[in-house]
Amino acid sequence: MYKGTENSWGLVAKLFHWIIAILVFIQIAAGINLHFMEFSMQKSSFIDIHKIIGSLILILVFLRLVWRFYNSQPSNDNVPFMHVVVSKFVHVILYILMIWIPIQGMLLTWTGGYDVSILGLFNLPRLVEENLMMYDQFKNFHYYFALLLTFTFTIHLSAGLYHRFIAGDKYGIWKRMSFKK
Ligand code: HEM
Ligand code: HEM
Repeated sequence: MYKGTENSWGLVAKLFHWIIAILVFIQIAAGINLHFMEFSMQKSSFIDIHKIIGSLILILVFLRLVWRFYNSQPSNDNVPFMHVVVSKFVHVILYILMIWIPIQGMLLTWTGGYDVSILGLFNLPRLVEENLMMYDQFKNFHYYFALLLTFTFTIHLSAGLYHRFIAGDKYGIWKRMSFKK
């Protein structure tokens, strides 16, 4: 039940997938909102929450990858080869962005002269000097990578919905990531 089988990712991987999916969704929506906000005390408190959720995503993705490494994965034997190649490619990009964007957010925070707090519990040592010119550039990078994540996530979401609602889930792709029996 907890571990993956021939036709299921298993409970732990599913929990990781759906909790991270919800957090990423919130983070993208709130981040895009931040992009259009003028500086204010309210924006500053939103940024504090944003940094806490962002560092939580990074920790969860790390734990998820550790679990993925030890867990067995569902078989793709009956799935067409091109489906497998394209979906693996999209998953790898999602993992890279889920790791890179939070790390880049930390670099951004340090160049702005602020601290990175892990889950609001303790501050990481500052690894980069304050540099306000770089802060602006890093902020733009952070935004464009978040847009790239949104784009990749939309492809992934569309593929999931295609399997579920159009292809009638004939390869069981939806079922193996869903909580329904
Ligand atoms: C509502 C949105 C989402 C839906 C409907 C969805 C659906 C699915 C489904 C059906 C699978 C199983 C694919 C397979 O077994 O080949 C899957 C796997 C996966 N999904 Fe999603 N997903 C969503 C959101 C996300 C988000 C936001 C991310 C990350 C940014 C993500 C990352 C992944 C990854 C990396 C896998 C590969 C399995 C793994 O390594 O755990 N998904 N998704
Ligand atoms: C998947 C995770 C993340 C996503 C999708 C994301 C997305 C975004 C987006 C779209 C913005 C708006 C950029 C702009 O104002 O142009 C933003 C702002 C920001 N992010 Fe993130 N972020 C993530 C993680 C993090 C992390 C982990 C940190 C730091 C610990 C961080 C720090 C910041 C800061 C400081 C800003 C405000 C920049 C400003 O307006 O002054 N982000 N984020």
